[in-house]
Amino acid sequence: MMIVGVQRSLGIPLVLSFLLLHRCSASVTIYNQNGQTTLGVAATTVSANPANYTGLEAYSPVTLTPPSPPGTAMPTSFALPMATSVPAGASIPQNGSFFGFSIEMSVVNQVLGKNASVLQVPFLNLMANIQQRTGRINVRVGGNTQETATLVESTPDGKILEKDLAGATNPTQTPPLIFTPELLYMLRNISSLVNVRWYLGVPFNDTANFRLAIVEQGEQILGDYLIGLQAGNEPDLYAAHGHRPLTYGPFDYFGEFGLLITAMNNDPNIPTRNLLIGPSISTTWTPEEVWDTGFVSAYSQNLAFMSVERYPSDNCAVAFPNSNLTFHDPQQLFPTYLSHSAGISLVSSYLNSTNFAQTQGKEFLMFETNSASCGGFPGLSDSFGAALWGLDYGMQMAAVNFSGALFHVGGQSVSYNPFTPPPTNESTFHQWTIGPIYYSALVVAEALGPSNTSRVMDLQANANNDFSPAYGIWEAGNLARVLLINFASDPSGASDYNVDLSLVGGQMPAQVNVKYLQAANVSQKGNFTWAGQTFGGIFESDGRPVGTESVQTVNCNSNSTASLCTIHVPAPGAALVFLSQSDLTETAGAPSQTFSTTVVTKAKNTATVDPAVLSTSNGHSGIGDELGSTSSGSFKSEGERTRGVVIGGGLVAVLAVLAGWGVVGVRW
Ligand SMILES: *[C@@H]1O[C@H](CO)[C@@H](O)[C@H](O)[C@H]1NC(C)=O
Ligand SMILES: *[C@@H]1O[C@H](CO)[C@@H](O)[C@H](O)[C@H]1NC(C)=O
Ligand SMILES: *[C@@H]1O[C@H](CO)[C@@H](O)[C@H](O)[C@H]1NC(C)=O
Ligand SMILES: *[C@@H]1O[C@H](CO)[C@@H](O)[C@H](O)[C@H]1NC(C)=O
Ligand SMILES: *[C@@H]1O[C@H](CO)[C@@H](O)[C@H](O)[C@H]1NC(C)=O
Ligand SMILES: *[C@@H]1O[C@H](CO)[C@@H](O)[C@H](O)[C@H]1NC(C)=O
Repeated sequence: MMIVGVQRSLGIPLVLSFLLLHRCSASVTIYNQNGQTTLGVAATTVSANPANYTGLEAYSPVTLTPPSPPGTAMPTSFALPMATSVPAGASIPQNGSFFGFSIEMSVVNQVLGKNASVLQVPFLNLMANIQQRTGRINVRVGGNTQETATLVESTPDGKILEKDLAGATNPTQTPPLIFTPELLYMLRNISSLVNVRWYLGVPFNDTANFRLAIVEQGEQILGDYLIGLQAGNEPDLYAAHGHRPLTYGPFDYFGEFGLLITAMNNDPNIPTRNLLIGPSISTTWTPEEVWDTGFVSAYSQNLAFMSVERYPSDNCAVAFPNSNLTFHDPQQLFPTYLSHSAGISLVSSYLNSTNFAQTQGKEFLMFETNSASCGGFPGLSDSFGAALWGLDYGMQMAAVNFSGALFHVGGQSVSYNPFTPPPTNESTFHQWTIGPIYYSALVVAEALGPSNTSRVMDLQANANNDFSPAYGIWEAGNLARVLLINFASDPSGASDYNVDLSLVGGQMPAQVNVKYLQAANVSQKGNFTWAGQTFGGIFESDGRPVGTESVQTVNCNSNSTASLCTIHVPAPGAALVFLSQSDLTETAGAPSQTFSTTVVTKAKNTATVDPAVLSTSNGHSGIGDELGSTSSGSFKSEGERTRGVVIGGGLVAVLAVLAGWGVVGVRW
């Protein structure tokens, strides 16, 4: 046995590693920290499953039955003529970082890392995949748990975050948190490796005595990587949750927001005062009720983003079995998610607000969202159907002038996570579980690209058919990409559709490239593919896509009068059509990155992986010669191993680490 990749004292105490695999069969030893406790609300029983799974929802085996195919309700052959240049009604220019993530504050020490020097390498890989496509990722750390969080200099046991589960006080059982500056250093250290920009939240539970330490230290430690500060999380639910008097209304929130600005203005340790985000309401108040207080104009100098939060449904009756809440049956709800009207209906109450935001010169954010609150629906929130739902909904938000959307990560007791680390007691032998929403994020990232010029329009394809939405993406003024979605689930192939793409007053190119998002049916859990690559099933991913990327070339039928490209879209699935080679490659390459690593090893349990899988898991695009891949010969000498690591094509390949806390050795 031999441990490789040990490298120390290069100044950055980040625990990463190198893999060195031989041609002969190899096994990988993963070393993990002991003594971690699993965090999160206790698991609840999932009644929909005959096997009566009672474990953590994030790894639930529950599957639903796919809805019946639409039959004649969806014509399977149709024409889609598109404008060559940006049509009236297309969106404002969108940044590639539109689709981001929201990480519940109480789970950052599961998802991001243990402290500033022990980061979750799978998380870095997942972010690097997106950075490769868009240049940057926006992540919010917050949620209900930010409201009662207190920054302290240290915790008794040295952890960066502590919570008191017994102290939970509201219907979502939000435990009070204490955290140390180390948490902020952890975010900063992540940003030095992948271009993650952070939104934080100011605790809003005591607006007579604001705890501004997170702002003071957040600004100081994160600098430009801090892009926004949320003031109040779902304030329209404060009364219902017992955090404010029952009379608490939009004007009360308006007043408290003003108090915060005053407190910040009086704090010499807060040099930047224009990063605030509000009102982040759920659906109890309408946005207009807040706008009509004069909120935006009164606080315009300090307000960076207008925001809302939204979940289309909830699983609260299951999460809180002794409540009188209405049970929503995921099997019955499933078809309502597999529909273009799902996203349209979700954005409908914000159209006035996104217009209003433009008149005020503000960006409008969906600050927290996912398929269902109270943990989501096992079988639905973690199905391929949710990937298509998240994709259509994300693109719909972009089309109607939201400026960003953050999909929530709630930890191991929820089913809707884009990504979930293994339970800490199992991280020696399990890897991460990549959920459908992460695939939605990848596809939206590629659909929008890194140029910040992408303007999106819902093409109302197929006579605005509910099963076959399509979006056009115009970049730098020209049609660059087309996204086609098929919500039907039909293994017979009868519900696959063929769409004839054409340009009004223009010629389609001789050929186009197409990438597919696919699974066998909408109920499938895990092993979805995007352009042929996958993150596997439950507990199977180190954050790097596995498999060879496959991009289809479709020849277009050009003649003197017309030019059509016929694109086949499987049921279920999505196709992203790239009109030119440069539209394809602009999201395929990322600037090389250089950084050094150190490795700490600690002999403990052993787990094996298939070396063939590792050697093909090169990520989205080519990787630099230095590391080449995880296959043999990547490192030829001790000398190469011990100098800084130069990575081409993003970090994906080099963060070649399995699960755990990124502490890996190789034995063979
Ligand atoms: C970070 O966490 C690791 C693993 O628990 C621990 O060994 C190390 O001492 C911690 N570092 C700091 C600076 O707390
Ligand atoms: C990482 O965090 C530690 C604090 O624990 C800090 O000393 C170090 O400078 C950070 N590294 C970077 C690159 O920011
Ligand atoms: C749109 O929002 C503005 C600002 O709140 C409000 O004055 C107007 O009445 C709203 N219009 C509709 C149709 O809701
Ligand atoms: C989005 O903004 C653009 C530019 O202002 C506008 O033309 C378009 O109508 C808006 N879309 C919606 C749905 O409001
Ligand atoms: C790890 O903890 C989870 C949640 O408490 C539990 O369901 C599971 O059985 C544990 N796994 C092991 C291997 O002990
Ligand atoms: C896109 O916008 C982001 C955020 O403003 C910025 O950091 C980035 O440099 C922009 N990218 C391009 C290509 O202009």
